[in-house]
Amino acid sequence: QTINTKETALPIPPLLKDHDPDPGKAEFHLTAQNATKEFVPGKKTETMGYNGNYLGPVIRVHKGQEVSVKVKNKLDDMTTIHWHGLEVDGDEDGGPHSGIQPRESWSPEFKIEQPAATLWYHPHPEQETGKQVYKGLAGLFLIEDEVSDRLDIPKEYGVDDVPLVLQDKRFDSDGRIDYDLGMRDVMNGLQGNTMLVNGAVNPFLKVPRGMVRLRLLNGSNASVYELNFNNNQSFHQIASDGGFLEEPEEMDKIILGPAERAEILVDFSDLKKGETVQLENKGSEFMKFKAKGGDPEDYTIPTKLTTVDKIDPDQAVKTRKFAFEGMGPRVNINGKQFDADRIDEELKMNDTEIWEITNESGMGMMGGMMHPFHMHGVQFQVLDRDGDPPPANETGWKDTVLVNPDEKVRVIATFKHPGEFMYHCHILEHEDAGMMGQFEVEE
Ligand code: C2O
Ligand code: CU
Repeated sequence: QTINTKETALPIPPLLKDHDPDPGKAEFHLTAQNATKEFVPGKKTETMGYNGNYLGPVIRVHKGQEVSVKVKNKLDDMTTIHWHGLEVDGDEDGGPHSGIQPRESWSPEFKIEQPAATLWYHPHPEQETGKQVYKGLAGLFLIEDEVSDRLDIPKEYGVDDVPLVLQDKRFDSDGRIDYDLGMRDVMNGLQGNTMLVNGAVNPFLKVPRGMVRLRLLNGSNASVYELNFNNNQSFHQIASDGGFLEEPEEMDKIILGPAERAEILVDFSDLKKGETVQLENKGSEFMKFKAKGGDPEDYTIPTKLTTVDKIDPDQAVKTRKFAFEGMGPRVNINGKQFDADRIDEELKMNDTEIWEITNESGMGMMGGMMHPFHMHGVQFQVLDRDGDPPPANETGWKDTVLVNPDEKVRVIATFKHPGEFMYHCHILEHEDAGMMGQFEVEE
């Protein structure tokens, strides 16, 4: 029952205006608000957006900048705004403790100290994250640095450097996206029947006959995407959640779990003018690329992108174990469901630790399901999956990692920022049901 609409030009989220004239600083204004939108022409549904009626503008900053954001809450409910993937102190992180009451504001300030990356922001109120993200509250947060400035890769925002926020929604026959959870949604997370890209159904993008950089975000509540082009052309992944890979990785299919990001380079130079290629999820087409006119451009993929300094496991002062357990309303981590008043793990600032995540939620007859593990305030590296080295596209910086049924994934991180942070399953219905814990980094 996928909804069908005429094809529409892909909306490109605007870059958010920086109100601070000082190049070393940036000041941004965001307002979370209720709205309505017609995803299906003639049929209105209630939505939420930042500075608009669905999704939010793109925040772009440069490493070294001091950033302040003035966030206003014009919703009827409490909200928060979390900088997913950003390395900041707990007070600025925007987790469930940073609630903004209706008609109130919040003004976090932080310095950008991490490499170029495609991060994102979204609300994080306790038990309400799934609903608010589903209704449209999410946006991208891009960091540039000396490496991204120097690299010879496409950089013209909206032209050959294009963000694609991928989400699936469950439209009813009235074109509405209501957030009503049935038992299946409580078990598996809310999965949709229709793909949206940047908030549009059935979009197309006109692309130059050359190399295009796509910044992909799986912004869904619960779905894992398996993406490929319908002509089976290959592409190169150049960045994972937290920044560039050391080298581009050629692939013809990419798997992205909820909250994961990837930057890919796609070569459209073989297309004739007007010719199209489709992007597919699990074999279903949902977005078209149409070649513009003009001569095909020559382009070489850089052989080396950056250096990712590997964290040495011998530096780890501790190994902690986290087990995803339970199903449906009983999902938990290590037998505990989220309690805002309880700190589950205490760490020391600047310590390096190994976190070992196992997925034991598939016990019994139900079989298992995967859970994406995310930790706040830090980027980590994947050490191994069931003892085997991770695939090449997981050898860079990550903040979210898929853990398959019965699998054990080990990650390593150095905790440079003090404060209270969350770790959780990024299936938002699981997070809201309590598959979340808190760690405190002490100075
Ligand atoms: Cu993107 Cu705690 O979340
Ligand atoms: Cu989960």
